[in-house]
Amino acid sequence: MSKRQKSWDFLEQCAEKGKDQPLKQLFADDKKRFDKYSLHVGPILFDYSKNLITDEVMGGLFALAHEVGVSEWRERMFSGGHINMTEDRPVLHVALRNTPDNPIYVNGKNVMNLVSEELRKMKVFVEAVRSGGWRGYSGKRITHIVNIGIGGSNLGPQMVTEALSKFSDDKLQVHYVSNVDSMQIAQVLRPLNPEEVLFVVSSKTFTTRETLTNAKTARNWLLASSFDETVVPEHFVAVTANPQNAIDFGLPEENIFELWDWVGGRFSLWSAIGLPIALTLGYEKFEELLAGARAMDEHFLTAPLEKNMPVIQALVGIWNSNFMGAQAQAILPYNQSLHMFSAYLQQADMESNGKSVDWDGNAVPHRTGSIIWGQLGINGQHAFYQYLHQGQNIVPADFIGAVESSTTVKGHHEYLMANFFAQTQALMNGIDEEQVREELRAKGKTKDYIDNLVCHKVHQGSRPTNSILLETIDAFSLGSLLALYEHKIFVQGVIWRVCSFDQWGVELGKELAGHILPQLEKNGKVAQQDSSTMGLINHYKKVRAEQTS
Ligand code: F6P
Repeated sequence: MSKRQKSWDFLEQCAEKGKDQPLKQLFADDKKRFDKYSLHVGPILFDYSKNLITDEVMGGLFALAHEVGVSEWRERMFSGGHINMTEDRPVLHVALRNTPDNPIYVNGKNVMNLVSEELRKMKVFVEAVRSGGWRGYSGKRITHIVNIGIGGSNLGPQMVTEALSKFSDDKLQVHYVSNVDSMQIAQVLRPLNPEEVLFVVSSKTFTTRETLTNAKTARNWLLASSFDETVVPEHFVAVTANPQNAIDFGLPEENIFELWDWVGGRFSLWSAIGLPIALTLGYEKFEELLAGARAMDEHFLTAPLEKNMPVIQALVGIWNSNFMGAQAQAILPYNQSLHMFSAYLQQADMESNGKSVDWDGNAVPHRTGSIIWGQLGINGQHAFYQYLHQGQNIVPADFIGAVESSTTVKGHHEYLMANFFAQTQALMNGIDEEQVREELRAKGKTKDYIDNLVCHKVHQGSRPTNSILLETIDAFSLGSLLALYEHKIFVQGVIWRVCSFDQWGVELGKELAGHILPQLEKNGKVAQQDSSTMGLINHYKKVRAEQTS
């Protein structure tokens, strides 16, 4: 923060004053707490009442949002302002789900024409593949899609196809290859027949080494079956903002779907990067996903900050992290469909806000992005929830679930959701010494037994959670949920004044790998590294030489 906001000081005072206030007391004092601190937008109910917030705190947080100009930044994003400062680009994933009659200009050009044109091309392609009009080199129907891509060119599409798999008509099976470890591509390709496989090579830059290595292996695998290079276009399409590199890979222009430098990789599933979604679920489902995101965009753009779901989610996160001292944020879906959601959010959030300098290049004097982690809540209960309930660090958690069961199988969903509600309640209330003693006495335990055990059974409570309850997991709701988190990330970046849309921190490691690779490939010991790296490389080379001799 270049100039410290008045509201920041006020919030620090609130934190000092309220830090020992038990959360359950706040509920006891105000029977309307849920009504006050929850809101409903489209298919999403967002309950943030189980955070250590009061009217005073929320007032301070909204004042902060006004002071830093969240509304103005929001406007700038939606109108194509160059809010990706270090790369001097607009940030317009919202254009990808915007309606064509609502123009957005970049350098005087209405990008909605580009978006509509690309969507039309996607639709035609998807229908051709799904109907069997697009065939493999031997005339067989395409039955398997293999998406090759990593990071944003993998996580978004894979998370969504997994989440919506119950809507698939199984015309096409989709597989994902992201890892350059040959194990993954070997496993994916082993059972497949090249004549029936279509590869989607997704890479915004088309320079990512992992993706290009996998694409080359896939191509060799195809050629080992077809013995004919000219069939490559029947089995490969590319999605990229760098069409020339895809052409150099051997693809004709018509096999290349475009995205643009104003779409960040981690926000790109709404573009042709989402092809595997449309291929497996049908183009209409992809449109529903876009519509869900658009509904959240409209809410985010038009609702006052005080009634704005992404803004509130962002502010509550700021409160927990900057004023209550939380360093991490757990993502705990109570729905099998969302099993990849925390992995997806890790990139969306941590690559965006895991930064240490502000827009002016100064060190940020307070905590920025949180450590995002998690997995399916019900599995986590039998793994790491012990830490959430009684560990020394307080980890705020987002619980995410749906009212409707994903199947008609009886006897599961109520039990699943009972756990969702119970866990947020347990984290909020905890259980104090007197309650533990009472409970053990009621079970007929001896005084000695109780005295020994009591301190181990106490749960402090006051551990903050958000509950996000969808009506059902469908394409529309999922689109809204993803857009909610995207905008939350954006608002937090604005408050922290970090460049949420670049990712310079991933470059150094890539560059060093580029220097080390030739050292692994050539014979002999290396000498120009630090002693640890040199020791590791030389040990690796020695053992590898023994293994391959
Ligand atoms: O290394 C990080 C990153 O640049 C991500 O931001 C991006 O989503 C991923 O790599 C893949 O990049 P590309 O789509 O250009 O292959």
